[in-house]
Amino acid sequence: MASPLRLGILTSMNHRRPTTFDRFHYGVCYYPEHWDDATRREDAARMAAAGVTVVRLGEFSWDLFEPEEGKFDFSFYDRVLPELHRHGISVIMGTPTAAAPRWLTVKHPGIHRVDAKGVAQVHGSRQHLCTGNAVFRDYSKRITAAMATHFKAAPNVIGWQTDNEFNCHFTECHCASCQTGFATWTKARYGTIAALNTAWGNAFWAQTLNDFSQVTTPRDQLPTWQNPSARLDYLRFVADRVADFQHDQVKLLRAADPRWFIMHNGTFWGIDYHGRFTTDLDVLGVDLYPGFAAPADKARWHAWACDRTRAYGGNFVVPEQQAGPGGQGNYLHSTLEPGEMRQQVYTSIGRGCDQLLHFRWRSCRFGAEEYWCGILDHDNVPRRRYAELSRIGNELKRVGPAVLGTYVHIDCAVASVPLEVNAADGVISHGLPGPERMGETVHQALLEGKYAVGCVHPADDLAGLKLYVIPHWAAFDPAWIPGLTRWVEAGGTLVLGARCGQRRLDNNHVTDQTFPGVFRPLAGLTVEEYQRLNTGPIP
Ligand code: GAL
Repeated sequence: MASPLRLGILTSMNHRRPTTFDRFHYGVCYYPEHWDDATRREDAARMAAAGVTVVRLGEFSWDLFEPEEGKFDFSFYDRVLPELHRHGISVIMGTPTAAAPRWLTVKHPGIHRVDAKGVAQVHGSRQHLCTGNAVFRDYSKRITAAMATHFKAAPNVIGWQTDNEFNCHFTECHCASCQTGFATWTKARYGTIAALNTAWGNAFWAQTLNDFSQVTTPRDQLPTWQNPSARLDYLRFVADRVADFQHDQVKLLRAADPRWFIMHNGTFWGIDYHGRFTTDLDVLGVDLYPGFAAPADKARWHAWACDRTRAYGGNFVVPEQQAGPGGQGNYLHSTLEPGEMRQQVYTSIGRGCDQLLHFRWRSCRFGAEEYWCGILDHDNVPRRRYAELSRIGNELKRVGPAVLGTYVHIDCAVASVPLEVNAADGVISHGLPGPERMGETVHQALLEGKYAVGCVHPADDLAGLKLYVIPHWAAFDPAWIPGLTRWVEAGGTLVLGARCGQRRLDNNHVTDQTFPGVFRPLAGLTVEEYQRLNTGPIP
């Protein structure tokens, strides 16, 4: 069970990259600390009987592991892990940095995230701390090192999840450390303030800066439209900050036990999944909650979520997939129909998933997610969701080995949108749907037309594709043009959205070339006039 599971670090994106896990793990997210001994007693045996081979643990238990600063206590998990091991169940541990303990925020209130209006977040939910803050990064390294050192002795720990859903609630931060951090980041990028002034077009609206100490994080509508170039750089900085925070943890985990695989459960805004955030991992994860889509839209939503994840690094894992209706403050999903959980599991597998866990083992009786239903209900009585888990778990013992190590064949693809392209568009979109939304629409049409469709980044391998669609990417990197040209010359059909190629991806300025800018030689046309088709009043 504790066989080496490292997959080999992703060196570059490749939508066809299979994972090299040695088995298809199927399981649940488990929070043993929410239950008393009597309720917990039968858990491992029940899981094993249902075909569960892996659980994810610990990603919200920092207060349990370090109840007071510097005093680490893993004794509770030291009882839970052997019991799971006895039943043949492996463990993925989570670094618990998405919810820091209260003693930490009392001692260092300055590490809370601050929103664009200057409001500091407070203790009491999660993701309240700034991942760019040096003090928080130090505490993150300390708890990660302590956990890594302790759990390397546990024979059934096979891998790790970094943090939990980075940026799921909050992307930007404008705290004091982000102000200095952004100034330092811009200095490293531009070297001189004159270069920054040119790149940001600071001659417009008297924004010229005298030195890097004057750099501040850009904020929208305070009072009006912000500088599109500064905004693009700020989102690059946000993405770098979270990749650095994760890297601290990855380094420590790899040093502690190189056999462990490391993943993260995405995918959210403000992260460069095509870049080092993903290549730092062994495999990327995507959390799948089709319950957020309208009932008629679930299948399409699900396919899109899987396909865009494959574009980041090939086959993937699903650390959380819906098991029951999810409910928080003001919403409650519909209950999954009989058989729907199984159908969703095979949808994920069919689109490149090589390991899947359901959220969560048992519905909790307290906390902000007390109505987020798991496999077992609040009363701990196994009902149809447990029966369905057992059916799937036992099937996967047979089917799992056959799908591992395969990749998904596609004939056509929608361009997978890098963070920078999205960010460049978002700040000046003219109220039109962005590249991501347009990609989803095209993907849907191809899916409904029963084409073998996926998503592929323009710098990835396009060989074998017959059709490639780049929908309205205003900003495009000229470095991607030669590969595209070779693919077109070899017979590929490229479809470009009308707004493609208007802006420069490095600085978000409008290009000095006649539209469609960098696409002009490839498209063989020029755009003499253009307009937005306005059908209603202009806001
Ligand atoms: C995910 C998150 C879990 C849990 C779940 C249900 O986004 O990773 O911790 O919150 O949603 O809301």
